Amino acid sequence: MTNKITLTGIKPSGTPHIGNYLGMIRPALELAEQYQALYFIADYHALTTVKDGETLRRLSYDVAATWLALGLDPEKVIFYRQSDIPEVPEFTWILSCFTSKGLLNRAHAYKAATDENIAAGLPPDEGINSGLFFYPVLMAADILLFKTNFVPVGMDQRQHIEITRDIAMAFNSNYGEILTVPEAVIREEVMTIPGLDGRKMSKSYDNVIPMFAPPNLVRKTVMRIVTDSRRPEEPKDPQTDNVFAIYRHFAPAEDIARVRQGYLKGGLAYSEIKNELYERLEALFGPAREKYTHLMNDWGYLEKVLKQGAEKARSISVPMLERVKAAVGTSR
Ligand code: TRP
Repeated sequence: MTNKITLTGIKPSGTPHIGNYLGMIRPALELAEQYQALYFIADYHALTTVKDGETLRRLSYDVAATWLALGLDPEKVIFYRQSDIPEVPEFTWILSCFTSKGLLNRAHAYKAATDENIAAGLPPDEGINSGLFFYPVLMAADILLFKTNFVPVGMDQRQHIEITRDIAMAFNSNYGEILTVPEAVIREEVMTIPGLDGRKMSKSYDNVIPMFAPPNLVRKTVMRIVTDSRRPEEPKDPQTDNVFAIYRHFAPAEDIARVRQGYLKGGLAYSEIKNELYERLEALFGPAREKYTHLMNDWGYLEKVLKQGAEKARSISVPMLERVKAAVGTSR
């Protein structure tokens, strides 16, 4: 255990699925064994798209319940909700004064939204809220307020970490080395978890395998993974098959080797390997599902955990913001 800090935000914009587990939850829980971890629910980021209060509240608890059910220990990890840290939006403003607007114009989420409008013959900013434009600055505040060294994220967040680094360096070159310049931690091997149809597993493609759905629904979903039409006795290609691409993340090395052989030799039916995948998922997520269900029925407990996390987080963010305000000249 070192005193380096790892921090990441989880946007509560949908119920987490096994792609989120492999890409984010599992690596983040592993990093928490080595570093002081701060993991938080990025509800203000979700507000750029989730415009119903009840939904945002429920999704935030959903994320909290999911991570706790999967083994996050709130005694070790500082686990909180972004909106419980008032220093974050205050710091966002300060940082915005060190963020070149051109940098934000080029940020991919904003750029994708304007490109879409242009392609549809609309004014570029049609229907785009400024929160979406400012999204990277809020994220920089999340990260820089806690002296973060490492940020475990998916590939889609790489540019945001680059922007954060630029902002930190701009601030430091004006006031001295006050902010820690963070590094992204991106795991290549879990970058491309395919969904049912072979495209990246994503809510927006509706091709996800849910984690905590009832077992029969999980089984049905696994059975729907798209394969080619090779018969059981025919050899199959583990490099291109979607079932294998998912299976290999959930089995120990010797089983992966056995199944790979079965593919190459022939004699292994897709239905068999789908069954085995289902059983592994159930063994892993079954017990967590019970915990999750229990937690989702006890928002009072979740609230207590998050409030305690916020208190610990603020023991870092309050003095850090004081330092920043002293430097910029807004503290008395
Ligand atoms: N933007 C991230 C996402 O969509 C969530 C996030 C918000 C985040 N603040 C962060 C991630 C700070 C890492 C660090 O997934």
